[in-house]
Amino acid sequence: MNNRLLAPSLLAADFGRLAEAVQKIEKGGGDVAHIDVMDGSFVPEVSFGQVVVRSLRPLTKLPFDVHLMVQNPEKQIESFAQAGADWITFHYEAARDSGEDSVQLLKKIRSLGKKAGISVKPATSVDALKNLLEFADIILIMTVEPGFGGQKLIPECLDKVRELAKLRDQLGLSYKISVDGGVNAQTLDSVLQSGVDIVVSGSAFFNGSLAWRN
Ligand code: DX5
Ligand code: ZN
Repeated sequence: MNNRLLAPSLLAADFGRLAEAVQKIEKGGGDVAHIDVMDGSFVPEVSFGQVVVRSLRPLTKLPFDVHLMVQNPEKQIESFAQAGADWITFHYEAARDSGEDSVQLLKKIRSLGKKAGISVKPATSVDALKNLLEFADIILIMTVEPGFGGQKLIPECLDKVRELAKLRDQLGLSYKISVDGGVNAQTLDSVLQSGVDIVVSGSAFFNGSLAWRN
């Protein structure tokens, strides 16, 4: 198996030198740029917004994998699509909290011509996603609590990757499974063995210690 994609997370970059960080992603074998959007509500801190995505868009041809850690994601999807996002992933927990139907949001993202992703925090089970899997292009499994880079991977979360890979076969679906949080040289093997398709890495990629192999 050697077609897994590396998605370096710009959250771990020097925000004063984002253009250089994008180059580093290209040179370091990144297949997509993972952009963590934080709203200070769904998660404690604030990071990127549409303005930053728009400024980075002309700098690379790599797809932008926008991970929305925001409440009320339905209010942000269209503007991130316009700003240059190629993949748009929102949180199951955020959509549910705001009373939005995740299926409708996934359909909306696809209708904008983008890949539609849904993410789950460590405490949310795969069962919660069963009815919406057919509408998703990407399932992003958080292996840390969302909000900060540099945390330790929670190994039990990788069971969800195995479960999702099995379900995909059983149901004849084609979504990609992504893992986000705590991927580094020590944990990479276990992540790859879980059956993941897309590997997000922030701090380990940017400090040069990841030792990526797919
Ligand atoms: C965490 C973010 C991750 C984070 C990963 O809330 O979604 O994308 O940047 O960073 P590392 O690889 O340092 O855990
Ligand atoms: Zn992320």
